[in-house]
Amino acid sequence: TATNQFCEAGIDYGESGCQISSSSSKILIKGGTVVNSHHQEVADVYVEDGLIIAVQPNIKVGDDVIVLDATGKYVMPGGIDPHTHLDMEFMGTQTIDDFFSGQAAALAGGTTMHIDFVIPVDGSLTAGLKLYKQKAQKSCMDYGFHMAITKWDEVVSKEMDLMVKEEGINSFKFFMLYKGSFMINDELLIEGFKKCKSLGALPMVHAENGDAVFEGQKRMIELGITGPEGHALSRPPLLEGEATARAIRLARFVNTPLYVVHVMSIDAMEEVAKARKSGQRVIGEPVVSGLILNDSVLWDPDFSIASKHVPLVICFIFVPSNYQYVMSPPIRAAGHAKALQGALSSGVLQLVGTDHCTFSSTQKAFGIDDFRKIPNGVNGLEERMHLVWDTMVESGQISASDYVRITSTECAKIFNIYPRKGAILPGSDADIIILNPNASFTISAKLHQYRTDTNVYEGVTGKGKVEVTIAGGKIVWKNGELKAFPGSGKYVEMPPFSYVFDGIEKADSNYLSSLQAPVKRSRSST
Ligand code: URP
Ligand code: ZN
Ligand code: ZN
Ligand code: ZN
Repeated sequence: TATNQFCEAGIDYGESGCQISSSSSKILIKGGTVVNSHHQEVADVYVEDGLIIAVQPNIKVGDDVIVLDATGKYVMPGGIDPHTHLDMEFMGTQTIDDFFSGQAAALAGGTTMHIDFVIPVDGSLTAGLKLYKQKAQKSCMDYGFHMAITKWDEVVSKEMDLMVKEEGINSFKFFMLYKGSFMINDELLIEGFKKCKSLGALPMVHAENGDAVFEGQKRMIELGITGPEGHALSRPPLLEGEATARAIRLARFVNTPLYVVHVMSIDAMEEVAKARKSGQRVIGEPVVSGLILNDSVLWDPDFSIASKHVPLVICFIFVPSNYQYVMSPPIRAAGHAKALQGALSSGVLQLVGTDHCTFSSTQKAFGIDDFRKIPNGVNGLEERMHLVWDTMVESGQISASDYVRITSTECAKIFNIYPRKGAILPGSDADIIILNPNASFTISAKLHQYRTDTNVYEGVTGKGKVEVTIAGGKIVWKNGELKAFPGSGKYVEMPPFSYVFDGIEKADSNYLSSLQAPVKRSRSST
């Protein structure tokens, strides 16, 4: 586990009382190329007490300041992952990474904040939030919350007010699938969208047609297809496209902005593109797995990968590696990933998440006889910054400034915490990475900081290495050494009415006045 790795590295993280040499609160990053989403320049960055104080060339400092030489390297805002599931109860089990191990891994990969999804307890938002506040107490980096809505009544509606006005939550996720657990119907979706709009909170959808997925799964089982390939076959891209189109049209009907999480297929992406082209406020979030992987992994079990990590006591449970790739919506056929990359570089899709949701191979084996029981989810929190750099910037598809925008700034803007987060500007939080474009990275379960025994990017190498991570003004990752302390991460409240709501009322009043003419006509004719 991550905990052991810290102790192996001679660093203890709390209870046992080892001395921690906490890094100075004054840091100067010298001579790097400072990249923001709007501009890049060679400059020094001076940090004190958790904040960026100055960004300019040739800053002079005293001896009490740690100086990091960033010559020839990029100095960028720490990543913000808009989509994670740490310590989540799901499909009869619990994700294996919690708020400490998941965040420690994130820091090692250059991500300094994430937004996790609070899952209500028996539909209660208040009870869900209370539970997640406890889970998050061990946080070693800053975090925010989205809230899932899993049922609808007056109590839930009132709790939404409370979440937005008192608790710093400005987004709610609706699952259009997971029949029998999280799934909600169109009536609830419309009610939820209306409520979100009135609060200035962003509705988010997991867009797959839950009833059709259920039918598709039945078909596969009847055909005797019980392995992970059945997962993908049971829920083709058209079911993601259908639900995405429906959610987008209902959002238009309500006139609310909409955020589509984990856009995994061309079908869904094209619905987002069409809506944006018509002027609708739709945000599309691809996730790293969808940008990189293709479904050949589901058909191709490499027995060696998973089995060598299975602990001795259960070594007779032989888990083929293809089980680890099961997530929803599924990883698609080759071609979708490339199209999603293109959509990201052309601005059709706006920011990259991970949907980090990890289970051990033992947990994945719950579905050894039936793909419907494989807990859904893949890793990504630690790899996102590296894989997006290598795939998008190193390949020449986007600029370094665009990289900052899609990994950090756009997320901060959408969730209304910019420029505190998502920028290297005086006054911003000192969440900073130094990336060496000439160094390379290698991904392996043997090297990662997660608690999982597998990694869906096993063996992937690429160019561009996060050499230093500074979170909250402290050096937490340097020279491959992690210094993460439970309790050091702060909850970031996110206020409602971010920029995506600007002008919504004007469109509403224009709509109302456009109704006047036909209403008058119909009245005069009666
Ligand atoms: O497979 C996935 N995506 N697991 C996490 C839950 C969700 O739907 O986002
Ligand atoms: Zn360990
Ligand atoms: Zn989802
Ligand atoms: Zn998710």
